[in-house]
Amino acid sequence: MAKAKSIYVCTECGGTLPKWQGQCPHCQAWNTLQETVPESSSSRFKSLAASSTLQLLEDVEAQDVPRNPTGISEFDRVLGGGLVEGAVILLGGDPGIGKSTLLLQTLCAVADRMKVVYVSGEESAQQIALRAKRLTVASRGVQLLAEIQLEKIISTLDAHKPQLAVIDSIQTVYSEALNSAPGSVAQVRECSAQLTRFAKQSGTTLILVGHVTKEGALAGPRVLEHIVDTVLYFEGDTHSSFRLVRAFKNRFGAVNELGVFAMTEKGLRGVTNPSALFLSGHDEPVAGSCVLVTQEGTRPLLVEVQALVEDAHGFNPKRLANGMEQNRLALLLAVLHRFTGLGLFDQDIFLNAVGGVKINEPAADLAILAAIISSFKNKPLRDKLVVFGEVGLAGEIRPIQRGQERLKEAAKLGFTSAIVPAANAPKQDIAGIQVFPISRLEQALDYLFE
Ligand code: TYD
Ligand code: MG
Repeated sequence: MAKAKSIYVCTECGGTLPKWQGQCPHCQAWNTLQETVPESSSSRFKSLAASSTLQLLEDVEAQDVPRNPTGISEFDRVLGGGLVEGAVILLGGDPGIGKSTLLLQTLCAVADRMKVVYVSGEESAQQIALRAKRLTVASRGVQLLAEIQLEKIISTLDAHKPQLAVIDSIQTVYSEALNSAPGSVAQVRECSAQLTRFAKQSGTTLILVGHVTKEGALAGPRVLEHIVDTVLYFEGDTHSSFRLVRAFKNRFGAVNELGVFAMTEKGLRGVTNPSALFLSGHDEPVAGSCVLVTQEGTRPLLVEVQALVEDAHGFNPKRLANGMEQNRLALLLAVLHRFTGLGLFDQDIFLNAVGGVKINEPAADLAILAAIISSFKNKPLRDKLVVFGEVGLAGEIRPIQRGQERLKEAAKLGFTSAIVPAANAPKQDIAGIQVFPISRLEQALDYLFE
């Protein structure tokens, strides 16, 4: 028999190649190609053989999906109201950030109303029991299964028919039908697909835990994100006690919705009013700090952006952005130079969003530049100022969504002035806050300092 020819699969994007090379031609990632043996297609598609019936779209009764709140309000918020029957949720995050803790709390919270199963491939039953004891939650009714073989997991779930099952983690699960190692792209993809099929058939809500690579991508397969209904992602600094859970994709709710938790002695506790959490609260105004109002899902959030601009030594000045996109920084610096004449080619620039929060909305543009200008001039910005607005390549300040709500939140927290895009200027005054509407980047300079 001829030896099966191996193929090379990218752990980042799932792309395949017949030969190894250093860079994946599909996603340009380096060193991500792994050798695997291609699986024979016969076993994979066997279950697809039975044909199905067609139905007319107009005949399908459209019902609102019923949601089953978990009772953990911040988790329900990111889920879009609660758990949906047959939905598959992927929860990703760094090791030790609190995935298992949150899910154990969730299972315990719903165990009196629902049949739940916790499938653990990483921890023994004793370890889980110890954690539950530490959390001091009532764990009555939570069924444990320490198993990593997919076929056994599915047949156990099928026999028990739980309404909610957690698989911790998808990378430890392996299927007998494939010969690649657990955690490889082929295994993760196949196991998720089979589990998803099981969830849809049985109506069980499944939560899959996924690990994250050093680079911050859900380990291995981006492909997994297409299979599941909801992708949630843990953010935040493991050094601080705050943890954020963000919805990246949600077929049953809003994306970018953010749940805020604090890690305590007794597990994760929801923070219901998090707007002032990401401010470092300086006693005196300091240079290089600017407060931004971001809109995370349905909730405005105040975040402090810090910049440090220092004389560079050497040919390549450093550009470091923590919690924001590095490429965006380069773009903003170019716009800054073109329209205000402020060139920072000989400066190192470090940028940080306080509290480990990740900001990916363009509304942060103006605040980033304000923090940079303030640090470069070594001069604090106007006291109690908030800034938001998108900066266009032509130096224009573009409007952003929900300007009013952001301003109201800032006023509520005691901020007294705001620089905002002209199109976001409120029609009626908002009590306690003076608004400076601008339409060009140059105009911002008039209002940044007192
Ligand atoms: P864990 O949920 O095991 O992380 P993951 O499953 O994402 O890898 O989180 C464990 C961390 O949380 C660990 O560092 C200890 C901390 N922790 C608390 O601070 N309080 C608690 O009550 C618990 C259970 C864990
Ligand atoms: Mg864990």
